[in-house]
Amino acid sequence: MHKKVGIINGPNLNLLGQRQSDIYGDISFNVFLKKLQDKYEGVDIRYFQSNIEGELINEIQNIGFNMDGIILNAGAYTHTSVAIGDAVAAIKCPVIEVHISNVFSREDFRKFSYLSSVCVGQITGLGLSGYELALRYFLEL
Ligand code: DQA
Repeated sequence: MHKKVGIINGPNLNLLGQRQSDIYGDISFNVFLKKLQDKYEGVDIRYFQSNIEGELINEIQNIGFNMDGIILNAGAYTHTSVAIGDAVAAIKCPVIEVHISNVFSREDFRKFSYLSSVCVGQITGLGLSGYELALRYFLEL
C-alpha cells in the first residue's frame, strides 16, 4: 500500500523563491515539490498551503486521521498559535515540525514553538532538505 504523507505550509511560504532568498533560498516550493514527487513517485504526497490560520487547522483535522504522517511548517504561526498546537495534539497521525531557516539562530521570538511539544520531532535550519528528511522518516516508520 502506498504511504500517504501530507505537507502543510503556513503563511508566506507561498512566496518561497521570491521572499528573503538569503534566508529561505531561491527555489519556489512548487518546483521543489514536483522534484520530491518525482523522486518518491510511489508515495502519495498531498500538499496544502494557506496564509490563514483556520484553514491550516481545517487541513490538519481533515487529513490527520488518515495519513501516515504530516510535515508541518506553520511559518510564523509556529510561535503564536495555541489553536494549531491543539489541532496537532487532537489528530492521530504523527507530525514533524519543519523550518527552512534555523529558528534558534534568529530573533528570540522564533525560539518558542507551540508545536514542538506535540510533534514527534523538529527539523530546523536545513533548508528545503528538511522536508525530504521528514518524508524519509515517515517512509521508514
Ligand atoms: C519559518 C520560520 C518562521 O519563524 C517564519 O515566521 C517563517 C518561516 C521557516 O521555515 O524557517 O515564516 O517557519
